[in-house]
Amino acid sequence: MCGIIGYVGARPCKELVLSGLEHLEYRGYDSAGLVLVEPGHLHRARALGPVKHLREAAAGISSTATLGMGHTRWATHGGVEERNTHPFVSADGRFAVLMNGIFENYVELRAEVAERGHVLTSDTDTEALVHLLAEAYEGDLADTVRRIYPRLEGHFAFLVVCTDEPDRIVGARLAWPPLVVGRGAGETFLASFTPAFLSETRAIQLVAEGEIVIATADDVEFRRVADWSLQEHPIEQADESLEVAAKGGYESFMLKEIHEQPTAIDDTIAERFHNGRLQLDGIGLTDEELRSINRVLVVGCGTALHSGLVGRYLIEEWAQIATEADVASEWRYRNGVFDPKTLVLAISQSGETADTLAAMQIARQRGARVIAITNIMGSAVARAADGALYTRAGLEIGVAATKTFTAQVTLMTLLALHLGAVRGTIAPAEVARIGDELRLLPGLVQQILDDTSLDAQLDVIADRFAHDRFFLFLGRHLGLPICQEGALKLKEISYIPTDAYAAGEMKHGPIALLGEDTPVVAVATDSHVFEKIASNLEEVRARGAHVIAVATEGNTVIHHHAEHVLFIPRTRPELQPVLAVVPLQILAYKIAVRLGLDVDRPRNLAKTVTVE
Ligand code: F6R
Repeated sequence: MCGIIGYVGARPCKELVLSGLEHLEYRGYDSAGLVLVEPGHLHRARALGPVKHLREAAAGISSTATLGMGHTRWATHGGVEERNTHPFVSADGRFAVLMNGIFENYVELRAEVAERGHVLTSDTDTEALVHLLAEAYEGDLADTVRRIYPRLEGHFAFLVVCTDEPDRIVGARLAWPPLVVGRGAGETFLASFTPAFLSETRAIQLVAEGEIVIATADDVEFRRVADWSLQEHPIEQADESLEVAAKGGYESFMLKEIHEQPTAIDDTIAERFHNGRLQLDGIGLTDEELRSINRVLVVGCGTALHSGLVGRYLIEEWAQIATEADVASEWRYRNGVFDPKTLVLAISQSGETADTLAAMQIARQRGARVIAITNIMGSAVARAADGALYTRAGLEIGVAATKTFTAQVTLMTLLALHLGAVRGTIAPAEVARIGDELRLLPGLVQQILDDTSLDAQLDVIADRFAHDRFFLFLGRHLGLPICQEGALKLKEISYIPTDAYAAGEMKHGPIALLGEDTPVVAVATDSHVFEKIASNLEEVRARGAHVIAVATEGNTVIHHHAEHVLFIPRTRPELQPVLAVVPLQILAYKIAVRLGLDVDRPRNLAKTVTVE
């Protein structure tokens, strides 16, 4: 979390830094700040809230500085206050620093600099760095960073500048927070993620873990901290799907991304079916190795885990491999037992989630094989795995994941089919049949999005229940992870408490929550558990609660069990999750809009979670 950008070149850079920050805002929007560096002095502006507030705060700075850097913050150490907003500047005004990550030994570092007489102006971990720099500087900024780096524990990517060297930015990385360099003609960018500068250049180089980068307008040096050796990194072309996004006429990114799902699903499937046969390039394991797998563990966080939970059912169904799924932050502290026959599937749209990365690393150390499933080419999870499979959803800006979820579920479906095909647990003809139905999904999602009567019905439901104090979501089998996802969407953007439960488990506790003011959302699509969920809905109705059911079109009995029915098109039960989640995304969206909330930037959240 937190987004950082730096620029050094020939152009006045205030606008470049601000617009870069706007494209990084999804990483955190508690506050934002920038510095513009001129020979002998620097200008700083900071503001609480989104980057547009920083834009206002910086309006009075008329500097034509051609070196600058900015930060958008997701608060970890220190409250959301201007004094805790990066960049931090040394008392003599010569040095400025900003960071994405954490100095784990910050208590010790802060105490140390305070003892030596520095006045700490913030509660952050980052500020100690600027005082250490000011103390240790002997005329060479990069060398100063080299000497300080071993003192810093944790995981970070930081940038520093000094007004004595107004031609360079020095950056450093430890562990997973990313740092990417953009190479333009006579100008260089440094950022957490390429979209920050993609409108200016597509030529990128990745700063590796344990490196210091020294960036000037015409040259970039990468040095390994351990031995100060020069490192070569190829210049690559940034992934086109990361094209800086615009709302394209939609009122929010989330709504736009909900509508991009047919394309995201289509693109995720397209390249992988050849004449009815599946090919998963990049999987990183031979067919022989896949045949030897006797256990699968799926790890991820939040929405990514929910797609893994769908995958769990499908892998068991088609590939007949024992599969479990767990929250990465919990699993990493379990004493998991592995061998080379265990396959770990690590799912992360951003490819940066700290807990998912840690879980992967532990799994590999213990001998498991790991495949990453991510939306970002070359991201940390992709690099940390034996193989990487990519969803093709394009850049997702809305903090609540939508199109990346349906793309992940699609990819998990393909992977489950592939495992089954390779292991011979599903007949080739059946794979081809399912493939044919899979290819219909984008059209069916489009049908849901185009269904004006469904939309009107969702409006009625949103009007009726937007001010209720609690929603319960109930599902069984493949409907359960979809309920978990629907409940997460609603709570994260509307701030209404929600719970998602296995419908059969309801009578063991949550039934006590039901009353005449409780909306209960159920995924009750046609499947072998439909009758079971129908009787659970009767138990709900007997308590006076209001049932909103997602059901398969043509189902004539569902009206007996629900007050509101959201019909979705028919497909085989294994593929229903991709369709069933769409009305739940739209319902969450409509409720949040009615409550006057910012759906793209829900409070306290960030799109990438690079801290534990
Ligand atoms: C919810 C949401 C989060 C993410 C989670 C993992 O809408 O987006 O729950 O799914 O933070 O993020 P990734 O997939 O980037 O690892």
